[in-house]
Amino acid sequence: MIHSAIDVIRVKRDGGELGDEQIDWVIGAYTRGEVAEEQMAALAMAILLRGMTPAETARWTAAMVASGETLVLDGIRKPTVDKHSTGGVGDKITLPLTPLVAACGAAVPQLSGRGLGHTGGTLDKLESIPGWRARLSTVEIRDQLDEVGAVVCAATEGLAPADRKLYALRDVTGTVESIPLIASSIMSKKIAEGVQSLVLDVKCGSGAFMKDLDQARRLATALVDIGTANGLRTSAVISDMSVPLGRAVGNALEVAEAVAVLRGGGPPDVVELTLALAREMLGHAGLSDVDPAVVLADGRAYQTWCRMIAAQGGDPEAELPRAEHVEVVTAPETGTLAKLDAYAVGVAAWRLGAGRARKEDDVQHAAGVLCLAKPGDQVTAGAPLLELHTDRPETIGGAREALAGAYAISGADRGSTPLILDRVVADHAPAGLS
Ligand code: URA
Repeated sequence: MIHSAIDVIRVKRDGGELGDEQIDWVIGAYTRGEVAEEQMAALAMAILLRGMTPAETARWTAAMVASGETLVLDGIRKPTVDKHSTGGVGDKITLPLTPLVAACGAAVPQLSGRGLGHTGGTLDKLESIPGWRARLSTVEIRDQLDEVGAVVCAATEGLAPADRKLYALRDVTGTVESIPLIASSIMSKKIAEGVQSLVLDVKCGSGAFMKDLDQARRLATALVDIGTANGLRTSAVISDMSVPLGRAVGNALEVAEAVAVLRGGGPPDVVELTLALAREMLGHAGLSDVDPAVVLADGRAYQTWCRMIAAQGGDPEAELPRAEHVEVVTAPETGTLAKLDAYAVGVAAWRLGAGRARKEDDVQHAAGVLCLAKPGDQVTAGAPLLELHTDRPETIGGAREALAGAYAISGADRGSTPLILDRVVADHAPAGLS
């Protein structure tokens, strides 16, 4: 059948449902450059306004997967499982989680990205470790998965090229905020990774894409539905992102915190989320009899971390970069810290040099914010509340400005929000599995 971009746009503009053939055609033709950017922009806007059904979204995702190559993990002797987070401030969970789940007996390929805006990227964090290399060939990924069980590396260019093109277009046409488009974008890259199962950490709160629980549940459901329709065991955890995760925000600062967790310490919220996601992943991998808390406590997860870092040229014992300037923000009064806004702390860390404004920019590995107090902690007037780390002292003013109104101290303890807000599971077995 002959298709035209205008016909496809009209169907969606008028609130209709796109057929499988139309979706396959439009994604394929767009990837090849046969559908113009302005036509795809019109279609993306029609999707943002009209939505897509679960069946359309699953097919849209499958078409984006088919636009490129898929990592074939068939020969790996362990169950393969991955985690994806929708992104948040201080979210370094991939760092302790990947070696932990590998040390429990699964194979975990984490094909990650770099940070843009106020949320950090896993590769930027790991690149603060001297010698560590993000780019691996497909053969190196497979070998490391077999030998160590854990890989965190850059996604190869060939995975879901339709998504790369479409994401750049959405970014400049006001069409990022569509749940079917966000969900299909995330899942196309994860499905192309070739894993058997996937756990999603959908962040909810000021520091996340999804600001309220209702939106987060809708995104989590869309992600789980797409994974299930494409043959993956998929579930989602919805976790709070109104407060930064842990105490460290910024690349090397977050690596140090992750290592503290792997050595049996670290902030309780980072430990709690790492263990919750590990249990979810082990359940999918058929390893629910392994207790990740034991594997974390007895040092096996830390040993796997060291092997994972060394396999990619990094020195796990090397000293991490330290900022040339550290300034302290003090508590204005005595009381209980009642609020510490994740978004504001993320913007402050970004302004200090931890993040990038454009894809081409470099990050400063040592820059960021250390939260010396978290909501619920008692603070005294004049005592240190936050530390601002940077190599460029001229950025401190902008960071302080971002933090104005970010924290509040009250006379009474208002209690804290739970870290894990909800869990979303598939209502049927994945396609092709029972
Ligand atoms: N992350 C993605 O990979 N895609 C989106 O559309 C949004 C967040």
